[in-house]
Amino acid sequence: MCGIIAGVNGSFMAHALIDGLRKLEYRGYDSAGIAVLGERIKVRRAVGPVDQLELLLRDRPADGSIGIAHTRWATHGKPSEINAHPHVHDGIAVVQNGIIENHQELRRELIAAGHSFLSETDTEVIPHLIVEELARSSDLVSAIRRAAARMRGRYSIAVLDKRDRDTIVTLHMGSSLVIGRGNNGAWVASDDVALTDRVTDIASIEEGDIAILKRSEIKILDKKGTVVDREWAPVEESQSTTASTEWPDHTRREIDEQPTAVATTLRNLANLDIPECLVNADRIQIVACGSSYYAGMLARRWFEELAHIRVDLEIASELSTRPMLDTDKTAAILISQSGETADTIAALDLLEANSVPTVAIVNVARSQLARRADYFWPTSAGREIGVAATKTFVSQFTAIAQLALRVARLKGEVSISRAVELQAELCRLPSSIRNIFGCEAQARDIASRIKTSESCLFLGRGADYASAAEGALKLKELSYIHAEAYPAGELKHGPIAVIADGLPVIACASRGPTLEKTLSNLAEVKARGAYTVLITERGELECDAADDVIRVPQASPFIAPILHVVAMQFLAYHTSSQLGLDVDKPRNLAKSVTVE
Ligand code: AGP
Repeated sequence: MCGIIAGVNGSFMAHALIDGLRKLEYRGYDSAGIAVLGERIKVRRAVGPVDQLELLLRDRPADGSIGIAHTRWATHGKPSEINAHPHVHDGIAVVQNGIIENHQELRRELIAAGHSFLSETDTEVIPHLIVEELARSSDLVSAIRRAAARMRGRYSIAVLDKRDRDTIVTLHMGSSLVIGRGNNGAWVASDDVALTDRVTDIASIEEGDIAILKRSEIKILDKKGTVVDREWAPVEESQSTTASTEWPDHTRREIDEQPTAVATTLRNLANLDIPECLVNADRIQIVACGSSYYAGMLARRWFEELAHIRVDLEIASELSTRPMLDTDKTAAILISQSGETADTIAALDLLEANSVPTVAIVNVARSQLARRADYFWPTSAGREIGVAATKTFVSQFTAIAQLALRVARLKGEVSISRAVELQAELCRLPSSIRNIFGCEAQARDIASRIKTSESCLFLGRGADYASAAEGALKLKELSYIHAEAYPAGELKHGPIAVIADGLPVIACASRGPTLEKTLSNLAEVKARGAYTVLITERGELECDAADDVIRVPQASPFIAPILHVVAMQFLAYHTSSQLGLDVDKPRNLAKSVTVE
């Protein structure tokens, strides 16, 4: 949520910052801005995507030898030029990612001390606080540290001081920062993707660290002020963040990349040790948000039915709202694509405080979650740029299934033949997914029927309810159509009241004991005028209750729900593109949700 990049390279800073912002745009894209320092600080800010900022710079060029830049996902104050970062006061320019929770209180104190503000943002208090602290001593680093002591929240900042043309100071207070060095100077960014073309080595800095960036030197101070070194690694081959011409957008490409994502995830997990805490656990607490939470719902079946371990699921932001009881013999699994989701990291803090061992299933190895959890069980989907999770979701499912199966085997809870059967099915998953690509034309047709609907329901039972929930999330994220998922049996307890002529109802129904009941529920809504779509496996099944049937390859009830999800990704994707929306960057969203 919000992306920051800053650098000290001696020249042509604006171009480099714009290039970095483009790569960070997936973190927020309602406005963007830069501040560069040459003879003086020049600030340029524009509402909308980075393209708008670039256009502004063509009209009103600004350049310098050092600079800071920001792409925004609004928290305090609507997207506007005045609310866009950087915020400047008395020669101190600041960009921030995160939230300053006590900003109102600080604003009141500063106003009482004679300061005045231009924007509605929480960030604007930061340059004012730094200037106030600089009045006590002219050392920027100490002033930033003292200003930070007055602020609450998770955030990271980069600061530029007009009096020093060779230094950027950056502070990590809970929102990730990576620093980079190479022939092009010293750099810092929210994410290494913004730096890989610019530097040769990268290091993640830790919470509480201040990094002082000069063109030929980077100094890191930990929270106690001690000079420390962090682990530097050569940059990995940069993954393109610009959509290839072969695909209309990133999301479509990422849907196509799913077979490879699954195969790579399986390969990379093959020799990894199983976290012992799961084998010894009587209870597993799964914690995640959004799509990752729905992957957790799918995980429940694998752990409960195969490993016979009770699973409790919690949305990460809800974990702290209830007392944590009976943590003895509990192990936690935290699932996250980015590994930077603030709610999930807050849940990790809580679990750690309660001495619960943690396993992180994460796609970004350098992320906070991957580095901080007791065990890291990676998904290997490659970088996902489209804001809606697609290939990372199927990779999460794959990683979870693999983990549960191996825990079940180690505990002796599943027979060798059953385990071999399920493993073979998992290994066939890439080809099963490829097979679903054949249903794209049908999904496009159904999309043309639902695209004008105001609302849409998704139904399923058990694991099918988890895939229905993910299908509903994909549709609402990408098409802005209100979509809700219900356990199919729950519909008659109230939600059926909303069924009206033509309302689309999409049911996921795997073969198994719940199939017939779900079909009956679909018949009930069809009888009340709904337009009904059934997603199920290929076979003999005839279903009068469905106006349209999308058939995915035959699979066991353990695997089928993930195949249903792929079919619904196509549905959401085509609904969005037929509505002419930005599939990669849906309104109001950001890829990495780094605020609570
Ligand atoms: C998925 O399509 C969404 N963009 C969103 O729900 C996402 O899954 C959620 O914010 C969690 O993110 P994470 O996996 O990076 O923790």
